[in-house]
Amino acid sequence: MSGWVLAVNGASRSVEAPPDESLLSVLRNRLGLTGTKYGCGEGQCGACTVLLDGRPARSCRQQVSEAAGKKITTIEGLAGNGRLHPVQAAFLEAEAFQCGYCTPGMIVATVGLLDSNPNPGEEDIAEHLTGNICRCGTYPRIIAAVRQAALALPKKKS
Ligand code: FES
Ligand code: FES
Repeated sequence: MSGWVLAVNGASRSVEAPPDESLLSVLRNRLGLTGTKYGCGEGQCGACTVLLDGRPARSCRQQVSEAAGKKITTIEGLAGNGRLHPVQAAFLEAEAFQCGYCTPGMIVATVGLLDSNPNPGEEDIAEHLTGNICRCGTYPRIIAAVRQAALALPKKKS
């Protein structure tokens, strides 16, 4: 066991864990942040997606030792001041889920996409989310939700 200080959703969290424990396991089992889901455990499904320094990353493939020192954002960190993040609101409005298991990973990956490309076309969205698997097949609604979110998000000033 080693001690780590993680910057999670804007707060410093101290945790004891072996250095090779996955960030996913630490988030879910040691910090109680169960919104990030375990799917395949092999980097293939995207259910465990979080933002590391603003970029989507598979938390099942990140060791806690690698995540220490980076800014970690999970699905729990997106809403603020009692309001859903615009991407969350768009997924809800477009009913872009059935069982909802893939949804946190899809939403977090979308936040990462819209940060780097505020106005993605359908192909950009499909390409960006290609590693996020939805076993319920709600892809058309997911793409509609991402486009809706792109319209709703305030644009950065250049
Ligand atoms: S659980 Fe991490 S990619 Fe599937
Ligand atoms: S909504 Fe069920 S896996 Fe995507």
